[in-house]
Amino acid sequence: MSSLAERVRPDFPQLARRFEAGPLVYLDSAATTLKPQAVLDAVVGYYSGYSANVHRGKHRLSEEASEAFDRARADIAAFINADPDEVVLVRNTTEALNLLADTLPVSAERRALVATSEHHSNLVPWQRRGALQLLEVDEEGLLARQTVQQAAEGAAVLSVAHVSNVTGAVQPLAELLEVARAAGLITVVDAAQSVAHLPIDVRALDCDFLAFSGHKVLGPTGIGVLYGKRERLAALRPAQVGGGTVLTVTATGHTLKEVPYRLEAGTPHIAGAIGLAAALRYLRDVGFEAVAQHDALLARTLTAELADLPGARLLGPKAGRAPIASIALTSPGVSADHLAMVLSDTHAIMTRSGTHCAHPYFQSLGLPGTLRASAALYNSTADVHAFAAQLRSLLERLVGRAR
Ligand code: ALA
Repeated sequence: MSSLAERVRPDFPQLARRFEAGPLVYLDSAATTLKPQAVLDAVVGYYSGYSANVHRGKHRLSEEASEAFDRARADIAAFINADPDEVVLVRNTTEALNLLADTLPVSAERRALVATSEHHSNLVPWQRRGALQLLEVDEEGLLARQTVQQAAEGAAVLSVAHVSNVTGAVQPLAELLEVARAAGLITVVDAAQSVAHLPIDVRALDCDFLAFSGHKVLGPTGIGVLYGKRERLAALRPAQVGGGTVLTVTATGHTLKEVPYRLEAGTPHIAGAIGLAAALRYLRDVGFEAVAQHDALLARTLTAELADLPGARLLGPKAGRAPIASIALTSPGVSADHLAMVLSDTHAIMTRSGTHCAHPYFQSLGLPGTLRASAALYNSTADVHAFAAQLRSLLERLVGRAR
């Protein structure tokens, strides 16, 4: 077994599950990752030891909870090389992108440039504002700098996923952001699928905004991050106001708090933030360089194993992908949903099938969907070999029959 996976697997209690079909092979981490015990302990620790509201009380428990919550924000910020007041705690990437699309100055005349390959969460919010302009990607799913350059006139925003949730393609982010900045565009990075695999440094990227979800980086569901440069965050109109967002209120008006608090209405997901910080500390302690190297090995293994399956085609780049692989079924009568069910129920291998919240991309590819396998630090190369072997054997039978 790959040494990193061997080292970390005992930390993930769910990997101990056994099914009638055998031990769990979890290859759906792009949908949500498994959680290490350290995250479960952090969440339970809050609920069982110092459960209280934050920034609203003078009693001992409220102080303990507030301290842990503030420390969590600081740890989350440090993970992406931001300052704590540049980190808005939201529910997930989708909420962050909706907040931006609803409050940035975009319109039919000031468009948001988004690649065709993007997730619905980076399409529909801009579309609802009448501002969406789709940009074609190449055969490997990559956005070219010239494409951004050519579309920049009359645009206000470039919003780009660092890593595709469909193919795992890693966009040439630094290059794209450089072109967008030179054209005066506001830059938004959807890091939902990269944050668990690639180091994120918002200072080095020099992006205006960046968003990710906690549950895709070993943390709890329901907590996510919107990073923004201070002046950019301060210019956003809060989508919601109320408790937690205001300094003073009179019968006729109110004054808002500074960022990030003015953008976080109501009691926050305290346990979620504490759990996410524990997840990021866990990754830091494992060693993010080691994680990135391991993920690169998993990505290479996926690409090599899935390159020549019968009646199937691997989408995305040959090199330069996160450990996410989508397989298009090219033989009539062979469906991704069916394969995913058989892999689950007969071999305890969990994958995802369908269009992965990316309808425009599938329309442009002329495909009904794919079977997707996505790995994380707790997967060994043996998991990838087992998946590929079972899939190959299923396809050999099904494709032979379909002919
Ligand atoms: N966006 C998640 C995925 O790609 C849910 O599976």
